[in-house]
Amino acid sequence: MYCIIGANGFLGSYILKSILNKTQERVVACCRDISLVGDTLKDKRITWKNLDICDFDAVNSFCNEYKSEDKKIVYLAAYHNPDLVEKNPRIAWNTNITALSFFLNAMENVSAFYYPSSDSVYGNSIDGKVFKEDDKTNPVNTYGKQKALAEKIVNTYGYQVVRYPFLIGTSLLSAKKHFYDSIVDNLKSGDGMDMFSDSYRSTISFRQAADYLVDLIEMGDKHPVVNISSDKALSKYDVGIIIAGKIGVDKSLVRAIKVEDSEGIFVAKRASSTIMDNKLLKSIFKLDEINLEI
Ligand SMILES: NC(=O)c1ccc[n+]([C@@H]2O[C@H](COP(=O)([O-])OP(=O)(O)OC[C@H]3O[C@@H](n4cnc5c(N)ncnc54)[C@H](OP(=O)(O)O)[C@@H]3O)[C@@H](O)[C@H]2O)c1
Repeated sequence: MYCIIGANGFLGSYILKSILNKTQERVVACCRDISLVGDTLKDKRITWKNLDICDFDAVNSFCNEYKSEDKKIVYLAAYHNPDLVEKNPRIAWNTNITALSFFLNAMENVSAFYYPSSDSVYGNSIDGKVFKEDDKTNPVNTYGKQKALAEKIVNTYGYQVVRYPFLIGTSLLSAKKHFYDSIVDNLKSGDGMDMFSDSYRSTISFRQAADYLVDLIEMGDKHPVVNISSDKALSKYDVGIIIAGKIGVDKSLVRAIKVEDSEGIFVAKRASSTIMDNKLLKSIFKLDEINLEI
């Protein structure tokens, strides 16, 4: 059985689809308010449960209810907007560190536990540095620091971490649009979109992110940390151009802007570029290349 904590989010919804496509397993999917789960995420193999991971009584009774079942867990619940984490570090700590640690210690009968982390743990790719899994972490903001600590907690417990770059793709959630959907809307309406051309990430799609993760779990991979990213570092402008090509609109609607023009938009510092090495992932799946597929 799979157990997805924080399942009604962008990545969670793709992971649910991937589990349904790739396995015959049942899924217990948790979120804070199951009345907000759209019909597209309902399936006879999925049982939806209300669970706030900061409510320790609720976590205890949830863990007790599923005590005897063998579980593969993907833990997605997070307070993860870098600007909000910077403003509310204690609230973020409760969710990202205290609740994670409590859950790890409360749940029994776990055959796999995967924690999706972020390229934000690496910090800046100075002089084009390409970060490998065992490179020293050097996060530039509180979100990245909490992710780095959460990874250590998960690894110390004996479980697995995957690190993702910026993920993109259409939202599968009826109530929440993704940045991808806003780009498509702005390009289709003719308004166009300003996008950073001087900040790079090893971007992949939500579908790829979910599929590689479920494949790792199904094969029983036990590497402590795996980067799940593409071969090519792309700016958001590059991604905009790819999307314009995909939906068949004039590429000049995507307008290049510089990060320095964003002064005042962000509260938390961002690494200007973070480039990830994906050789481990490619060696696990015997792949020659991994490119963004949207
Ligand atoms: N998207 C990316 O580009 C990216 C890249 C790297 C890593 N990640 C990591 O992937 C994970 C999922 O990200 P996402 O993009 O899918 O974000 P998302 O759409 O915001 O999903 C996060 C989920 O966590 C749930 N959650 C938050 N606090 C909770 C709590 N106290 N109890 C239970 N559930 C709670 C949210 O539930 P509610 O619906 O109830 O708010 C939501 O369903 C995060 O850990 C994030 O750091 C994402």
